[in-house]
Amino acid sequence: MNKAVLVTGACINTGVAIVEKFASEGCSVVFTGRNQSRVAEAEKKYKEKFPNITVIGYAIDSLKDETTVDEKAVYSMFDFLDSKDIFIETLVLNAADQGLDMEIFKSPLTDFMRVINTNMTWNYCLCENAAKRMKDQGGGNIVFVNSNTAYRAIPNRIAYSASKSGQLGMMRALALDLGKYNIRVNAVLPGMIKTDRWDKNPEFYKNVPSRFTPIGDVAVGADVADAVWYFASSARNTTGAELVVDGGNTIQLYPIVK
Ligand SMILES: NC(=O)c1ccc[n+]([C@@H]2O[C@H](COP(=O)([O-])OP(=O)(O)OC[C@H]3O[C@@H](n4cnc5c(N)ncnc54)[C@H](OP(=O)(O)O)[C@@H]3O)[C@@H](O)[C@H]2O)c1
Repeated sequence: MNKAVLVTGACINTGVAIVEKFASEGCSVVFTGRNQSRVAEAEKKYKEKFPNITVIGYAIDSLKDETTVDEKAVYSMFDFLDSKDIFIETLVLNAADQGLDMEIFKSPLTDFMRVINTNMTWNYCLCENAAKRMKDQGGGNIVFVNSNTAYRAIPNRIAYSASKSGQLGMMRALALDLGKYNIRVNAVLPGMIKTDRWDKNPEFYKNVPSRFTPIGDVAVGADVADAVWYFASSARNTTGAELVVDGGNTIQLYPIVK
């Protein structure tokens, strides 16, 4: 069996930084995106950057429709990995439906269900499939890329915040049930991360409160990737834990605007 890390949602933004961190540490990587051609394009770039590392892209969408998780697609992906003799020793649940601009009184219930289905139910299904194999192989670890919105809300993101709070409950319950199989489960809680959304709308992001952190800066993907790597590589006695990577944003009673 060839050991690998599986990173979901890694054609763009934070997922790319996580893949690059693991690849730079010499790990084989499997990553997902929803669109086959974007996955192929990302795979090509990774292979150019890390010619000696095995990198495999896999196109998968969480949903069949807004209210139905595509459970079979998850089973097929793990069957595919089994057929290639690849064992996912580390699962990084990075992909998320951001649930942007969802307004109570306006947004249909299916919007809420879509976000919960992707961020919670699909991730649970991935955990189940990965943990089954980790158990058979004597252990492994799972890292959720969560959010400080699990604790502190931001406007018009009710489903997203609920899904991230729910993820933390799921993370702790999984850690409890899977500990006896030597499977550790932890979560990284970023605050705002500089992504392509930042580049597309610099004026908005320049003024959001997340910028006003005690350290006066927000995260880049590599900061999140380092925290994920810590849980995956060295946190031997840590499970059910949260590591906040938000420049101290959530410790404040109110943001200090300099
Ligand atoms: N950005 C921030 O400021 C911030 C702050 C706190 C926490 N986080 C968390 O950090 C993680 C990464 O954030 P990000 O901003 O880098 O993410 P992003 O740019 O929104 O990318 C998310 C990834 O999730 C995938 N995805 C979205 N919906 C999906 C679905 N229905 N099925 C399967 N995959 C789906 C996307 O796939 P495609 O490539 O196919 O579109 C994309 O690759 C997320 O868990 C997010 O909640 C982000």
